[in-house]
This record gives sequence, C-alpha cells and structure tokens, in this order.
Amino acid sequence: MQSASQQNTFAADVLRGLSASPKYLSSKYFYDDEGSRLFQEIMKLPEYYLTRVEYEIFSEQTAEIYAAFKAEIGEFDLIELGAGDGAKTSLLVDFFLKRQAAFTYVPIDISAEALKCLSEKFAAQFSNLSIQAEQGDYFLTLQTFKSKSERRKIILFLGSNIGNFGKAQAQDFFKSLRAVINEGDGLFIGFDLQKDPRTILRAYDDAQGVTAEFNLNLLTRMNRELGADFNEKEFSHYASYHPIEGAARSFLMSRKAQTVSVEALNETFHFAAWEPIFMEISQKYTLSIIEEMAQASGFEVTENFFDDKKFYVNSLWKPI
Ligand SMILES: C[S@@+](CC[C@H](N)C(=O)[O-])C[C@H]1O[C@@H](n2cnc3c(N)ncnc32)[C@H](O)[C@@H]1O
Repeated sequence: MQSASQQNTFAADVLRGLSASPKYLSSKYFYDDEGSRLFQEIMKLPEYYLTRVEYEIFSEQTAEIYAAFKAEIGEFDLIELGAGDGAKTSLLVDFFLKRQAAFTYVPIDISAEALKCLSEKFAAQFSNLSIQAEQGDYFLTLQTFKSKSERRKIILFLGSNIGNFGKAQAQDFFKSLRAVINEGDGLFIGFDLQKDPRTILRAYDDAQGVTAEFNLNLLTRMNRELGADFNEKEFSHYASYHPIEGAARSFLMSRKAQTVSVEALNETFHFAAWEPIFMEISQKYTLSIIEEMAQASGFEVTENFFDDKKFYVNSLWKPI
C-alpha cells in the first residue's frame, strides 16, 4: 500500500514522462505486488541468464567474497539497495553467520511486498540474524547513511540493478554514494558484461512473454492507482539491443493512434500509431568502463568476481 505522498510522486512522474517527447515511464514503478511477482517469474526464465550467473558467483566464491569484505573484522552493516527476494544475498548471510561475523543486514527496497517476503523468509531461515528492513527509494535513503550507525558499511547493489541507469546517471549515483560513505566501507556491484547481442536481447524478450507482461503491468498499475484508462491490448512490448552503446532498451508501442486519460492528473495523452513509450534501459558494461567509472566517482576496484562464462562481474570497490 502506498502513502499519499508516494502516490503524488508517482502521478507527478507519470505526468512528466507522458508529456515528454519521446514519452517514457520510470522503471522503478514496475515493482507493485504483481510486478514483484512477475519479476520472480522472469528470474526463472531460461533466457534470463543474469540471476543464474550471479547466483553461481555467490555460491562458488562465497569464501573469497567473505575474505574480500574483511567480514571477520569488527561489526559492520550489510546494506542492500533494491534487495528484491535476497536469494543471492542469503548465500552470503548463511556463510557469514556460520563464521560468527558481526553484522546487521539492512535490505532497502521500494516494494513493500518484496521486502515483506524477504523479511519473513530471512527470519525463518536465520533465527540469529540482526535485520533492519527499510522500505523506500534508495536515492532518498542514501541521505540517511551518514547518520545510520558508526559501523563500517558494505553496500550491495546486485542483480545488474545499476544497468537500469544510463552511464551518466550511474556515474552520478556512485558519486552520491561516495559522498555518504567512509574509508573502510565497501561497495559490491553486479554488472552485466557485454556479450553476444543475441544472448542479451533474448533476456529482455523471452519466448513466453513474461517480460512483456511485466512491462504491460505498469499500465494496469496506472489504471488502478491513477484512474487511467489504458487498454493493455492496444500496446505491445518491444526490446532492442544497441551493441555500440551496450544498451538493451524496452518500450511499449502504441499499436494504433489513441488517447488515454489519467483521472488523477486530470489529463489526456495522445499516442500516435506505433509511438513508443521508453520503459527501461539495461546497460551492459566492459571491464574498462567499470574501472573508469570507479575512478571518476572516487573509488578503486579492489577485486572482481566472475562467473565461468564471464557473462557477469561482481565488482568490489573501496573509496579513495
Ligand atoms: C532487478 S530487481 C533486483 C533484485 C535483487 N537485487 C536481485 O539481484 O535479484 C530490482 C529491485 O530493486 C527494487 N527497486 C527498483 N528501483 C528502486 C528504487 N529506486 N529504490 C529502491 N528499490 C528499488 C525493486 O523493487 C526490485 O526489488
């Protein structure tokens, strides 16, 4: 359930996005209850390699990650931005607890549903885990980091979540993170690497159409929460991958000329036939871009963890 101010922000963001040219919607609004459920389905799809390869890194290199985090030294907060179902993190948590590491797990997510499921699951699985879940937008919660605790912080940003920012926005995000962390803290980021463009494209255009449903669900959400009258059948999901930019993008295409009204905004929006709404970017990286980005935002790459196929990297950064 959203608060009135979250609802107003949603409405204001929709107004901005649908009034722009080209039109866009922010991907952070994908994750209502149904969106979070659909994302769980996406993670199980054969085409969606991202979750599997990151899981492989976490399950096969747990001890190395533990050592790289210096988890045996003193108390720390393990903060996860956009935690989702925490499935990969649970591998670390299990390992860390067995070695009596002294940490508090702080999952942050915009989706109340995702956070509730994760908290219940972790409470059942790890009876001695100290956990402080926080619902909210991680852009806003960043501001509270300084005052959170005196403990060292290890910040997890997994699942190629960073890919949902363009490169420039990612750079700004890392700079804002740098401003709120201290020497000795760490940042552990999951980057999807550039690879065969066909493999990438399939991950965003699965044969069963779950990704299409995930995108279209945002129209349903606007109908329910903002009193919009989108006919989901009149829009279709389209995904593309641009190998020079290294960017996969998803769009909803208006299948015909149509006008949609949004009661909460007291506005109507016209769509030309086959006009796109830009929904999401999934930026793919190279190791040299990752190095440059770390340096440009005041960090240094300390260690990279790869899956067998080198599809993906979990990169540990320290502030300099
Ligand atoms: C792509 S999923 C990744 C989930 C998880 N980190 C993983 O690796 O499986 C993105 C998650 O981030 C959350 N999220 C997206 N935008 C957010 C924002 N601005 N603030 C907080 N959480 C956000 C979503 O609710 C969702 O659970």
